[in-house]
Amino acid sequence: MNEKDYDYKVTAAGRVNIIGEHIDYCGGKVFPAALSLCNTVYVRANGTDKINLSWTTLDDKVTLGLSELGSYRNLRYGNYQAGSALAWKNAGHKLVGCDMVQSCSVPFGSGLSSSAAIEVSTIAALATVAGESFDPVEVALAAQRAECDYAGVNCGIMDQYSSACGKKDCAILLDCKTLEREYVPLVLGDCALVIVNCNKPHNLAESKYNERRAETEEAFKALKTKLDISCLADVTTAEFGKYSYLLGGKVRDRARHVVEECDRVEKAAEAMKKGDLVTLGNLLTTSHKSLKELYEVTGKELDALFFAAIAHPACLGSRMTGAGFGGCTISIVKKDGAEDFKEYVTGRYEKETGYAPRIFDASIADGITVTEINRR
Ligand code: GLA
Repeated sequence: MNEKDYDYKVTAAGRVNIIGEHIDYCGGKVFPAALSLCNTVYVRANGTDKINLSWTTLDDKVTLGLSELGSYRNLRYGNYQAGSALAWKNAGHKLVGCDMVQSCSVPFGSGLSSSAAIEVSTIAALATVAGESFDPVEVALAAQRAECDYAGVNCGIMDQYSSACGKKDCAILLDCKTLEREYVPLVLGDCALVIVNCNKPHNLAESKYNERRAETEEAFKALKTKLDISCLADVTTAEFGKYSYLLGGKVRDRARHVVEECDRVEKAAEAMKKGDLVTLGNLLTTSHKSLKELYEVTGKELDALFFAAIAHPACLGSRMTGAGFGGCTISIVKKDGAEDFKEYVTGRYEKETGYAPRIFDASIADGITVTEINRR
């Protein structure tokens, strides 16, 4: 492929969530950041009513008819792009036929939101090649529709929002109810953020994601009978203490996680602003324990990575990131002990699980980028 044959290069980021897990669909605040790992789309208009899609990393070639976008759900590759184009069209936007070449540096199934990166970059590329300027928040919302309606995962807005609206070297304190955001500089001083993939593939649609979502909705309905709330994240820890008797065993555990995690997000953002990495690290570790014990979304591999990480003296805190059931952990690690940390975690994890982990050197980057290659 020759870049010069295309009109635009559009990228959208993968993301890492620092804290605030399984909170977006409960209407609370989350604290993610966009990664330098991204999906790249080269695009040019082709004057037809079709999207010709290919990849630098795959042999597949797929043609999507603009008037048949609903019929590609079962494609092995290209289904996310078709769903994204359909969602953008359904949101009232113009589509034009185009040739697209894509390549993704976000590893699939890693919990770093490769699917959001694909959806968001595809939509941004389609808008750009159609000559439209776009609002990244609107792109994120259409991308979320693609994930829910086309891919069948009833996800929240966090991944697509981070992928579209991320900012270099900043975490995003995002209120998932109002979509208001605050960028908080990610200043880690003498520490580094280490991302480790447990390398056990996960599949959200097949996992318990939708079940957890239903459990939190059940909790919300029950608590709403006594409290003036518009979402589960509105419940304070004091209110939860008073009314948790309304909830049955597992549902109570799920709701407790949500209420306490919301509290941790506020504290984590404050700690980050003050440069208090010890507090931030402790909040991460408490978050993981809650996801393990109350929300039950960690699993053997993520727990093995977590326990290895927190056992190392250079580690200030660690947790799983993303939906769970596989994927990655993040750890805050003193830079001068980071190499030893990586070696220790790798060795211990491999010994315990038989999987070789993968450590990422990713930085915090912008969400969508658009570069004009050729002016027509
Ligand atoms: C997945 C979903 C997000 C969010 C996280 C858990 O990544 O796509 O919307 O719910 O899980 O925090």
